[in-house]
Amino acid sequence: MMNLTIVGTGYVGLVTGVCFAEFGYSVTCIDKDTERLEKLKSGTCPFFEPGMDKLLDKHINKTKLLSFASSIKNNSENTDIFFITVGTPTRRLEDEADLSFVWQVADEISESIKKYCLVVTKSTVPVGTTSEVKKIISNKVDQKLFDVVSNPEFLREGSAIDDFIRPDRVVIGTDNKKSENIMKELYRPLFLKETPIVATSIETSEIIKYASNSFLATKIAFINEVADLCEVVGADVQQVAHAMGIDKRIGSKFLNAGPGFGGSCFPKDVKAFASTAKKKNIDLSIINAVNKSNQDRIIKISNKISSKLKNNSTITFLGLSFKPNTDDVRDSTSMKIASNLFDQGFKVQCYDPEAMSNSKKENSNLVFFNSAYEACEGSSAIIIGTEWNEFRALNFEKISKILKEKIIFDLRNIYIPKDLKEMGYEYYGTGK
Ligand code: UGA
Repeated sequence: MMNLTIVGTGYVGLVTGVCFAEFGYSVTCIDKDTERLEKLKSGTCPFFEPGMDKLLDKHINKTKLLSFASSIKNNSENTDIFFITVGTPTRRLEDEADLSFVWQVADEISESIKKYCLVVTKSTVPVGTTSEVKKIISNKVDQKLFDVVSNPEFLREGSAIDDFIRPDRVVIGTDNKKSENIMKELYRPLFLKETPIVATSIETSEIIKYASNSFLATKIAFINEVADLCEVVGADVQQVAHAMGIDKRIGSKFLNAGPGFGGSCFPKDVKAFASTAKKKNIDLSIINAVNKSNQDRIIKISNKISSKLKNNSTITFLGLSFKPNTDDVRDSTSMKIASNLFDQGFKVQCYDPEAMSNSKKENSNLVFFNSAYEACEGSSAIIIGTEWNEFRALNFEKISKILKEKIIFDLRNIYIPKDLKEMGYEYYGTGK
């Protein structure tokens, strides 16, 4: 049985750990944050992700394949594969990824290598990082005792476990056959399910991750700009996207127009990709335009909303997480727009099914309520920022009685305009 050590218990690290335990491997997850570790040891996931609590409980208490520790040293003697899954935030004032945690972990791993093992970068890291990790470890460890591998992760928050267990593909970047074969053995349970395993060089693998995220972000920014045009000429962006998507060369996914892309990955990754390229004198002009288009969108949408409303009125913001099924508000477009509207003088009454506590930490000026209906009391407009299922069939008869004015901004296009207009609402969607 393989022994795995996963360093960093953020989204990628924890999901990777839990899912490899599900495959039957013995997994130790390392994190320096002792408060987080105590929570994890008791089976509590530090973030909301469907299915995580159940798998944590199963592998901590029943199979006992999953354990937690605060240091690599003394807890990784038998490790066959180390995974580096620490955060790579954007450096303040610059667009490039801050890799200081990665370097630190590489150095700590080098103190603990006693037998042959692999060191895998799974965090999203710019091209060249994995070979830099190799250099750091070689300072202290004989090159025969380890190999480095790039193995990017493609899971999405909100469907992370399913994405890990049923991925479209697994990408393995190595510089020799031995490590490639070990990685293929690791992913054998997926290979049996006919998941394509793409074996490449280390640099190619690193680029695949950024190119994939940047391409998806490009699709979103593209359809959002088309939506702006649709609004002006009276066309419907949803029908445009639907018809475009039927063409197999285009594909229907990630063509939902909305308030822009957010989250801990796309905004950061498009910046880091362009910044890495710039250092090599390559201008990723499309990616730069995508980044600008998405940043400008926040102001554009905020102004569109405020231009339709009376100054200083009370408004309702439904959905604060950057997408449904997560409590994550990092780079959330909903949070940015809600905060912008507050700054413009509106009183913003908010509700989110899971992200209230994270939202409060980010902006305590917003007023938080325990349900969508309570947040609508006395309000002059409803803004749907995130398409949670519970907002898809709101009881508008009930809401109509408690609103001051019947105006709705359906930023994610989850309602049929005609239905709401018939109930007397002034309806604004995105791109229609
Ligand atoms: C994204 C990628 O989808 C994953 O494949 C990748 O592994 C992950 O980043 C990562 O690099 O770790 P995630 O950030 O969890 O996953 O969320 P997405 O579902 O991709 O959504 C990102 C943003 O785009 C959200 O704000 C979402 O609302 C927005 N979006 C998405 C749209 O506005 N329209 C769409 O059609 C799709």
